[in-house]
Amino acid sequence: MTVYDIVLFVHITSVIVMFAGVTADWLAVGGLRSTRDAGAAHAWIRTLEISAAFGPSARFAVLGAGLYLAVDAWSWPGWIIVGLISWVAFVILGEPLTGRELREMAAGVRAEHGTLPPALIARMHLPRMWQAVVTRVGLGIGVVFVMAVKPPVAVAGMAVVLGALAGYSAARLTSRPGRAGIHPRAQAR
Ligand code: HEM
Repeated sequence: MTVYDIVLFVHITSVIVMFAGVTADWLAVGGLRSTRDAGAAHAWIRTLEISAAFGPSARFAVLGAGLYLAVDAWSWPGWIIVGLISWVAFVILGEPLTGRELREMAAGVRAEHGTLPPALIARMHLPRMWQAVVTRVGLGIGVVFVMAVKPPVAVAGMAVVLGALAGYSAARLTSRPGRAGIHPRAQAR
């Protein structure tokens, strides 16, 4: 057993933990979109907080171990560059894009009891949050394909773009006004 094997193990384990975080975010944002009750919303906010407690470390462990593997045994083929760019996109779809909105929404939910006010419900339905979490799932699956198959750069690029587009389209289709159980006018506010 070599150091490379151990780092590969760390890389893959961190990927699994990273996906656990993405799944938790996905369920929590989906759960928040389908409730008007403060008690249920508190539980989903707690899920987001738990995911935020380990998600960033997992993402950086994926990067650190991935860089080690890339430098140790590979001479930067295109699929690794695609993996690196996708990792950056993955991070941008999290905290930089929706972090502030999520924190503000969490603070609002924590202050409520009983039925949530329409303005807060509208905030929980912001399409951007849903689109970001579901796009991440698609992008992540695209990267797993790239890492496992190690295809030529064009195929690798196409795989992650298609993965992200599939996620984004799924989010658009499932966030149409009316499906979320809220009046479209409230959603536009
Ligand atoms: C979203 C981010 C990432 C995911 C989901 C991911 C996923 C994976 C998976 C599942 C494997 C195992 C493939 C196999 O053993 O056949 C792997 C291997 C690997 N990854 Fe990543 N990875 C990510 C980011 C990165 C980054 C940013 C780098 C480097 C800059 C990287 C470099 C590597 C390398 C070099 C291997 C080596 C595989 C081998 O020796 O077979 N990965 N990755």
